[in-house]
Amino acid sequence: LRQQGLEEIKQSDDLDRVNDVRVKLLGKKGPLTSVLRGMKDLSADERPKVGKFANEIRDELKAALEEKRAQLEKAVLDAKLAAEAIDVTLPGTPVAQGQPHVLQQIIDQLEDLFIGMGYEVAVGDEVEQEVYNFEKLNLPKDHPARDMQDTFYVTPSVLMRTQTSPMQARMLEQHDFSKGPLKMISPGKVYRRDTDDATHSHQFHQVEGIVVGEHVTMADLKGTLEVVAQNLFGDQLKVRLRPSYFPFTEPSVEADITCFNCLGAGCSICKGTGWIEVLGAGMVHPNVLKMSGVDPEVYGGFAFGLGPDRFAMLKYGVEDIRDFYQNDVRFLTQFDQKG
Ligand code: PHE
Repeated sequence: LRQQGLEEIKQSDDLDRVNDVRVKLLGKKGPLTSVLRGMKDLSADERPKVGKFANEIRDELKAALEEKRAQLEKAVLDAKLAAEAIDVTLPGTPVAQGQPHVLQQIIDQLEDLFIGMGYEVAVGDEVEQEVYNFEKLNLPKDHPARDMQDTFYVTPSVLMRTQTSPMQARMLEQHDFSKGPLKMISPGKVYRRDTDDATHSHQFHQVEGIVVGEHVTMADLKGTLEVVAQNLFGDQLKVRLRPSYFPFTEPSVEADITCFNCLGAGCSICKGTGWIEVLGAGMVHPNVLKMSGVDPEVYGGFAFGLGPDRFAMLKYGVEDIRDFYQNDVRFLTQFDQKG
């Protein structure tokens, strides 16, 4: 019985089987139980011997069963642990990461450049008072030049700014000239009532710049624009100024840069002229200085307004300004500087 029992336990290869064997060997209907039950029929001196022997076998089988059960449970646990193991050395699943919008990249680059030249960066509000957007920039009501910038009005005296130039007036008003010249750029979004097409958008960006101090000349303007053009488009570029008109500058100019991509007459960017128009600028109009409480007999300077949208289109050959605002990731990820 002992041999057979131990053998059966050894053969059991899962926990259910071990349980069955236990019931069979040690249960109420098992052989050992009936031996123990039959003890009352034995003689007095046989009884202790048989009893002792039967108990020994029972203990031995119990121990064997317990050992087998522990063994199988451990095997089950080991298998489970092995199946659930995590290999921490495996490479992770890459997480898609964003990047600054291409227009923001241009603005960031300009900010870095101008901060390096001692300018401060001042950010204005997209919702602006009409007086700052027009009157204080020498554009009184009914001035025909207001038509150049068709405007979204919020109330009769509050509007979506059509240009970043209101920051010229705001900063001139605030600046303490006893501490040195005003040197400021102001990047941001502007709005005009235009019908969107490949070259027009009702929202776009500008970076305003203004330098006003005691001996600021037009040559300083040209030199500054040259630094900007060379920083963004290439070392060799030259700048040329053509007469133009803005109410808040006198004289006013349009600045052209030499075409950096020129293949002669067939050039798609400059149409074979060798020059690309990039921004508007001029010497700050005495009226603008006066209205901001700055004495035009003592102080003067230049201002410019450039368009990051136009710069990005030129730099990367983007043909439709609307691409910047549709947020199609296939378009935007082309400008991922992480490569
Ligand atoms: N604000 C002008 C525009 O939007 C650009 C400009 C700025 C011109 C500063 C001259 C000086 O067209």
